[in-house]
Amino acid sequence: MSGLREELEQVRREKEQLENQLACLQRSATLGELLGTTTHEFNNVLMTIMNYAKLGLRNKDEASRDKALGKILAASERAAKITHSVLGMARNRKDGFEPTQLAELLQESLLLLERELQRYRVHVELELESVPDVPVNGNQIQQVLVNLLVNARQAMPDGGRLVIRIRPDREGRHVELSVRDYGVGIAQDKLPRIFEPYYSTKSGPDATGKGGTGLGLAACRQIIQAHQGVIRVESAVGKGTCFTLRLPLQRTVAPALGAASGWEAAVPVPAVEGPR
Ligand SMILES: Nc1ncnc2c1ncn2[C@@H]1O[C@H](COP(=O)(O)OP(=O)(O)O)[C@@H](O)[C@H]1O
Ligand SMILES: [Mg+2]
Repeated sequence: MSGLREELEQVRREKEQLENQLACLQRSATLGELLGTTTHEFNNVLMTIMNYAKLGLRNKDEASRDKALGKILAASERAAKITHSVLGMARNRKDGFEPTQLAELLQESLLLLERELQRYRVHVELELESVPDVPVNGNQIQQVLVNLLVNARQAMPDGGRLVIRIRPDREGRHVELSVRDYGVGIAQDKLPRIFEPYYSTKSGPDATGKGGTGLGLAACRQIIQAHQGVIRVESAVGKGTCFTLRLPLQRTVAPALGAASGWEAAVPVPAVEGPR
């Protein structure tokens, strides 16, 4: 009998180790995507600066030079914003939770993806109601947002509307953030699987190097769970998909992000709702 108990204990320990490894892998995969996006955006800005500097050097007249300098200034300001957002991520490296305006995190995530969304003709519509600060780890919530935004963009290969909404919930104890796309949608029988690690319907990373790992939503769920929140999905094939994050304004205990306890908590089954 005690042999069996030992074996069970051994299996439990191995399971815990594997889960921790997976959580780590998920985080590095999404962080990698975020870093890739940032570097790519920064490079775009540098290209703009270089091209206008060349233009200014070639054209000696005052009007051309003024125009070139104006463009260089605008691009540098954008570069400064990107650095600011990267520094924000670095500042928030610790597993700390800080009172945060979700709209600001959203704007920083959109800033990083602005060009990409434009290139794929995705039109962003914001419906931002005023909400209190939410205690979050900004770095991790930004990863969640980037994952959801990239998935939404990838679901609309020919472009389309992307509606992002932030609002307080009815009881005033949570804040909800939803990301709605009007893309391909997800079949009802596939919905329960999308949060599984490694579940992906994409053939591999796209031209921007994103997607195909099947780790994005698994990481989102793990992060939201560590925030004692819920992530919910509604979808209809051919109509689109809406992911909603529901984050509490008050946290009851303070679990360390990524610690085994985050996994031991009951895994909320994503609410699967019918077509809208
Ligand atoms: N907005 C969306 N619209 C349609 N399908 C989606 C959307 N978001 C996620 N999915 C589906 O869920 C799967 C898993 O998503 P994710 O975990 O981010 O992995 P990946 O993007 O690497 O495939 C995707 O491959 C896709 O089939
Ligand atoms: Mg993804």
